Amino acid sequence: MTERLTLQVADVRAEARDVVLLELRAASGAALPPFEPGAHLEVELPNGLVRHYSLCSDWREREHYLVGVGRALNGRGGSQYIHQHVRRGMSLKTSAPRNHFALDARARGFVFVAGGIGITPIHAMVQWCEAKRQPWRLVYAARSRQRAAFYETLRELPDRVQFHFDDENAGLLDVGAALAGVEPGEQIYCCGPAPLVKAVREATAHLPEGTVKFEFFTAPADARPQARQEAGPAAAPVGAADGAFRIELRRSGKCLDVPAGQSILEVLERHGHEVPFSCREGLCRTCETPIVEGACDHRDYVLSSDERAAGKSLMVCVSRSLQPLLVLDL
Ligand code: FES
Repeated sequence: MTERLTLQVADVRAEARDVVLLELRAASGAALPPFEPGAHLEVELPNGLVRHYSLCSDWREREHYLVGVGRALNGRGGSQYIHQHVRRGMSLKTSAPRNHFALDARARGFVFVAGGIGITPIHAMVQWCEAKRQPWRLVYAARSRQRAAFYETLRELPDRVQFHFDDENAGLLDVGAALAGVEPGEQIYCCGPAPLVKAVREATAHLPEGTVKFEFFTAPADARPQARQEAGPAAAPVGAADGAFRIELRRSGKCLDVPAGQSILEVLERHGHEVPFSCREGLCRTCETPIVEGACDHRDYVLSSDERAAGKSLMVCVSRSLQPLLVLDL
């Protein structure tokens, strides 16, 4: 069972235009579970929504967690709720920190690309690099200077940070130019909105596999081919498993049909099986389920190439079977 935490909102403060910073502490004042840069919390909001927010604080600070939340006007309601209703003194239930966007400490250097509120996990990574004296640079794009979280601290590092503000440049960041000169052995970490992710993907397509890591806010419609590409040559062609198949639940011996157009998660729910979930888009790993037998068409954005190749688990909210029968450890 995943560890759950009850945290108190110790502070809510404006970090930039439409960005608030939540400071979360244990009510007892005890040290919080450790985390590494790139980690996030799954937060259960009092209105029933479950959302994931990256930790942006220094990993050595165990007395609190800081998460930055940008107000997404066209989002699914989590950020609006936090901006309107979450106040100091409230309690929030969260997961312990989880990390699907971990830094590879073996890299020779780090190139960070952040767009908008995508700066939050990158901010924690920057603090780690500074503390460990690791070479790094950051390209940080935002719609305006006023909307750039952590601008005041990052501007103190002009040799390392390249800002791009759309309103001051009459346009979007030239990602190709910004990423020119990436050295062999350097790794690129990108977190931001879909157009930025797409531009980074295109600008780095020639680099060796494993050089670039992405953190997605939402599932970008055009990212799936890349997820497959990262899975290596054994990955299924797009659409290979769109049809119907059957799942066997090994623990109960039940067999269920998964029709085309329905997810395994939907079928399980329809038959009364409670599987934990959050994003339902293959982003959060909450619904990860062990595979006993079968070959899977992974459609998530969180498994690494090695994990895909090992074929030991799948995200039942999006992934499908490549064979008529998939046996799950449920
Ligand atoms: S519910 Fe988030 S990955 Fe399946």
